[in-house]
Amino acid sequence: MKPKEPKQPKEPKGSVDPVKPAQPKEPAQPEEPKGSMRRLAVWNQKGGTCKTTTVVNLAAALGEGGARVLVVDLDPQGDASDSFGVPWEGKGLLDVFQGERELASLVQSTSAPGVDLIPSSQFLVGLERSLAGEVATETILRRALDALPARWDVVLLDCPPSVSLLPISALAACSEVVVPVFTQFLPLKGVAALLRTLDKVRAALNPGLRIVGVLACVVDGTRLSREVTEKLRTRFASEVFRTVVRKSTRLAEAASHKMPVTLYDPEGNGAADYRALAGELFERLDIAKPTKPKQPKDPLGYKGSKESKR
Ligand SMILES: Nc1ncnc2c1ncn2[C@@H]1O[C@H](COP(=O)(O)OP(=O)(O)OP(=O)(O)O)[C@@H](O)[C@H]1O
Ligand SMILES: [Mg+2]
Repeated sequence: MKPKEPKQPKEPKGSVDPVKPAQPKEPAQPEEPKGSMRRLAVWNQKGGTCKTTTVVNLAAALGEGGARVLVVDLDPQGDASDSFGVPWEGKGLLDVFQGERELASLVQSTSAPGVDLIPSSQFLVGLERSLAGEVATETILRRALDALPARWDVVLLDCPPSVSLLPISALAACSEVVVPVFTQFLPLKGVAALLRTLDKVRAALNPGLRIVGVLACVVDGTRLSREVTEKLRTRFASEVFRTVVRKSTRLAEAASHKMPVTLYDPEGNGAADYRALAGELFERLDIAKPTKPKQPKDPLGYKGSKESKR
């Protein structure tokens, strides 16, 4: 029997105003007050759960909607940097952790409108060793982010799949965490461990940390994918984003072409889903009115998408 295709949950009724594009700053104007930027860690300690895909494409969709976005690539694999085609050489972020460089000096622009990036560094692999003997290492990143000029609306941190110093630093530095879940695994291994880690970070470092949303990724019409998505909704209730990210080979292709899917396949499902997610995130963060997400009428119809032409 042909598996039933998943449907995107309905968008809420009511029109929304477009987000105003960033206004150029007068040179003489004082800096905006610090702390107005919303920092989100995209984290799941399990590997291959679409963290990087979500960071890159959500950032591009938020940027397209008028937000000024800064991506921080904290994964020594540098996948987010590669996905934007931004080179990452030298000590870079390691210098920041060692107090030898300011974060702002590492900012690079990307091809995605509104999106800047702080690239990864392969030297981050040796971070814990290089900070041996230092105190309060988990809050170095928080302090470095505090010192950034308030030039962005949203900062998205791509985390490696571990419970090491890098993701703990991100969780200590952020007000919110987005948890992407790959819906092709059952049971939801690691979710309980993930929640325990978040509790420990709250208790020791960051009492205000909250899950802004759990994101079901690689959703298709299979029973397994449906079951996992249902289990997520049972476990996390409204914490699960209404938007799901459907299975799309275009997302992987876009990364290998070093661009977000909003530029690589702007009319496809991947772009539509991450635009819908950006709209939902704008609502949840209550930071700006979203642009109207462009979900196709028939979510799996692939009409107008390059995917339909394969
Ligand atoms: N919606 C999707 N449909 C199909 N494939 C996807 C989708 N989202 C992500 N992928 C693919 O799944 C794989 C894992 O994605 P990604 O690299 O984003 O995971 P990750 O959590 O960042 O991995 P890691 O833990 O290694 O950092 C990649 O090959 C990516 O192209
Ligand atoms: Mg990754």
